[in-house]
Amino acid sequence: MSTEPDRGSAVPSAAGGDSGVGAGECGSAVPSASQTEWDGHARWWQEKFTDGVDPEYTEQIIPMVMEHLAGRERVLDIGTGEGQIARALAQAGAEVVGLDLTMAQIRTAHERAGGPVYALAGSDRLPVDSNSFAGAVVCLVYEHIDTLEESLAEVARVLRPRGRLVLILNHPLFQTPNSGLIVDHMIDPPETYWRVGAYLHETATVEEVNKGVHVRFVHRPLSRYVNGMIAAGIDLVAMLELSPPPGFVAKVPEHETDVLGNTPRLLALIGDRRQSTG
Ligand SMILES: C[S@@+](CC[C@H](N)C(=O)[O-])C[C@H]1O[C@@H](n2cnc3c(N)ncnc32)[C@H](O)[C@@H]1O
Repeated sequence: MSTEPDRGSAVPSAAGGDSGVGAGECGSAVPSASQTEWDGHARWWQEKFTDGVDPEYTEQIIPMVMEHLAGRERVLDIGTGEGQIARALAQAGAEVVGLDLTMAQIRTAHERAGGPVYALAGSDRLPVDSNSFAGAVVCLVYEHIDTLEESLAEVARVLRPRGRLVLILNHPLFQTPNSGLIVDHMIDPPETYWRVGAYLHETATVEEVNKGVHVRFVHRPLSRYVNGMIAAGIDLVAMLELSPPPGFVAKVPEHETDVLGNTPRLLALIGDRRQSTG
C-alpha cells in the first residue's frame, strides 16, 4: 500500500514561465522532500477518488469549484493531491499552481500533467508572492492539518483583494468522529438514522478508512473555520451544505438512501479577501 518517495529524484519544480512559485516572501521555493503521512495514503487516494472514479468529485466537487472560481485567471490549489481540481481549472483556461506537502501526490500530478504547474509545499508556508492569485481552492485538506489559522492567513496573504477562496471540508458537524449510519433493529420496523459524534470538543483521531489505511483527522467545530476566515481577512459570501450526488446515493442500499440523501457529507465555505486585511 505504501508508496515510498524516491528521495533520489529531483523535487518536481514549478519553476518556469511566470508562475511566480518560489518568488514569494517565504524564502526557498520548494522544501526538500521528506516523507509525510500522505505518502503512504497516496495510492489509495488516487485509486479510489481520482481520475473520474468518484461521483462526489465528478458530479459535485469539481463542478462547484468551477462555478465559484469561474473567470479567475490565476488560481492556487492548496493540497492539490494528484491535481484533479487543478487540471479542471486549467482546462477551463485558468493559470493554475498546485501545491502539496506530499511527494507521492506531486509526482503523480506531474505525470497526469494537463496544464498546472506543481510544487512541494505546506499549507502554512506558501512559496508564492503576496497578492498574486485571483482564486484559491482548498479541498479536503484542512481537516488533516494542525495549523489552521496560519494556513488561512497564508491564503489571505497570497490572494489579491477580492480574490476568492473555495474551502471544501468534510462537514464538521455531521462527519465528527464516531458519526455514522445506524440501523436500530431493536425497534419494529427497524429505524435508520444518522448518529452525530461529539461536536464541540476538538480532537485528533486516526481512522481506518480502508483496510490498512489509517488517516489522521483533526475535528474542529464549524465556528473555528468561519472565525478563522474572518480573522484572516476573508469574508464569507456563501456556505453550501451539499446533499450527496446521485452517483453516490445510487451505490447505497435503498433503506439508507433517505438518511444519506439528507445528511451532508461535504461543506463548502466560499469567501472573498477583504480589500484591506489590516
Ligand atoms: C484528501 S487529499 C485531497 C487532495 C485534493 N485536494 C483533492 O481534492 O483531490 C488531502 C491532500 O492534502 C495534502 N496535505 C496534507 N497536509 C498538508 C499540508 N499541511 N499542506 C499541504 N498539503 C497537505 C495531502 O498530501 C493530500 O494530497
